[in-house]
Amino acid sequence: ERSLLGIKELDRSEITGLLDRTAYWDNQSEKLTPILNSHFISNMFFENSTRTRFSFEMAEKRLGAQVLNFTAAASSVEKGESIYDTVRTLESMGIDAGVVRLKPAGVLQQLAEKVSIPLINAGDGNNEHPTQALLDLYTMTKTFGDLKGLTVSIIGDIMHSRVARSNLWGLTKLGAKVQFCAPENMKAPELMEYAPYVTIEEALKADVVMMLRVQLERHASGIILSAEDYRRQYGLTEERAAKLAKDTIIMHPAPVNRNVEIDDAVVECSQSRIFPQMSNGVPVRMAVLERALQ
Ligand code: CP
Repeated sequence: ERSLLGIKELDRSEITGLLDRTAYWDNQSEKLTPILNSHFISNMFFENSTRTRFSFEMAEKRLGAQVLNFTAAASSVEKGESIYDTVRTLESMGIDAGVVRLKPAGVLQQLAEKVSIPLINAGDGNNEHPTQALLDLYTMTKTFGDLKGLTVSIIGDIMHSRVARSNLWGLTKLGAKVQFCAPENMKAPELMEYAPYVTIEEALKADVVMMLRVQLERHASGIILSAEDYRRQYGLTEERAAKLAKDTIIMHPAPVNRNVEIDDAVVECSQSRIFPQMSNGVPVRMAVLERALQ
C-alpha cells in the first residue's frame, strides 16, 4: 500500500511506471474492471474541486471500489473539527485509502505520518498536485512520445501553483526543459534555481504552452494587474495563438478564466489539449489507485 504525496519524491522509473499503467487503463475498452471491489476509498475534499474530485470518483468506480465522498462544507468541520480528527474518524470506520485535497500546504505530509492508510494528494495548497502533473505528462507523451529535450513554458500565477511545481519536478525528471513566464507579483523566488523566467514572446516558442489560472482566491494582497492588462501582457490571445508553431500544443489545468489567461476561442482550438487533459485524468487516477491498493 503506497501513498502518493508528491512528484518530487518519485524517481523517473516510478513516474514512467505510472504513465505505462495510465496507457493500459486508457486503452481498456471495458469501462468496469472491478479489481478494487473489496476496497473502501474516501474522497476527502477540504477545498472545492470539479475535475479532480469527479475523475477520482470515476476512476474508483471503474475499478469497482466502494466510494465515500466527504465534503468539508457538509461535515463537522463546520463545527470546528480538525482535518486530522476528520481523517482519523474515517480511518477508524475502516476506509482503505483517502484521496485528500487541502488548502494549507504541508499538512498532508504530517497527516500521512500519523495514519496507517495510504493517502493520495489531490492538491495541497501551493505545494503539489501530483495527479494533475501525471495527467499533464501523459497528455504530452500522447502528442510527442518521449519528453526528453521537449521545452515546456508554464505561464501565469507560478507563485500559487501546485500544478507548476508538480510539473516542474516531473518534467525535469523526464528530461524536458521547463521555463516560466509570470508578472513580478506571481513569481516563485524559491523555484528560480530550477527554471528560468522568460518573456511571453520567448515562452510562446516552446513545444508546450501551459497556461495557468490566475488564482484570485489566493492573492492576499490583491492583484496589481487588471484582468484586461493581464490578458494583454500574459494572456494567450487569439492573435498570439495564431503565431504559435503548428506542432505546439496548448494546455491548461482548468478551471479556465476565459478571456483572462486564455481567449475563449483558443480553449477548444485544434492545438488545445485542455479537454483531453480532463479525459486523461481518469486513467491516471486509476493507475494511482491501483498503485496505492494492489
Ligand atoms: N485541475 C483541477 O485540479 O481542477 P479542480 O480544481 O476542478 O479539481
